[in-house]
Amino acid sequence: MNAISPRTAIIGGTGLQKIAGLKVIGREVMHTPFGEPSAPLTHGEVGGARIAFLPRHGHGHTIPPHLINYPANIYALRQIGVNRVMAINAVGAIDPDLGVPALLCPDQLIDYTYDRFHSFEAGRRGKVRHIDFSEPYSSALRAIILKVAADANLEMHDGGTYGITQGPRLETAAEITRLARDGCHVVGMTGMPEAALAREIGLEYAVCAVTVNRAAGLGESEPNAEMATQVEPAMALLNNLLAKLIPVLGQ
Ligand code: HPA
Repeated sequence: MNAISPRTAIIGGTGLQKIAGLKVIGREVMHTPFGEPSAPLTHGEVGGARIAFLPRHGHGHTIPPHLINYPANIYALRQIGVNRVMAINAVGAIDPDLGVPALLCPDQLIDYTYDRFHSFEAGRRGKVRHIDFSEPYSSALRAIILKVAADANLEMHDGGTYGITQGPRLETAAEITRLARDGCHVVGMTGMPEAALAREIGLEYAVCAVTVNRAAGLGESEPNAEMATQVEPAMALLNNLLAKLIPVLGQ
């Protein structure tokens, strides 16, 4: 499988267990020094463009955000020779200018998670490295995603801050007020430590976020109730983007 290894991997989040229109070429069970990734990697193509796909929560969405084996997921992608990762994250909208569903390519993040394996530096011998993380996402990969969306006439918000909470419970209304005060535009549970691990290991990494609800205290119904009706239209929006994006990323 490695001989025909793709350059780009997509990590799918809530709602995106598989990619519509992706022709599956094979599946690869990976073992890493950090254990097993969330699922076997799916190798697939759209019109000859090759990508690898990994559902972050496992096939069947069985792994909660705080128990995802982030280091194994990232390490496995590195092992097959991928050098860039587009992460898909379902999020709650905090910014009132964001609709539901809506696409957003964040350019910043704030990490509110704890007790997660957050660094390959842990236990590593030798000189301690402090990676630069002032710009957590790859500007080159963000530019590609935004251009493809614009060319396809798909509205995608350029920039914004992604606040990552521990979960799996949703936030209190007061926590969302605090995140808004901190400058977060969207909130989710899986953006970290994935982004930092990717940076540590030298992968280009960017997020395509899709809103599936208004964050706690901001909507007319509870986040879960809104999510129940909005995940499907959000995924339809996302699959429209992916249909255009994979042929570019898979070259
Ligand atoms: N909060 C946290 N994570 C989420 C949300 C939310 O409102 N929606 C989707 N993922």
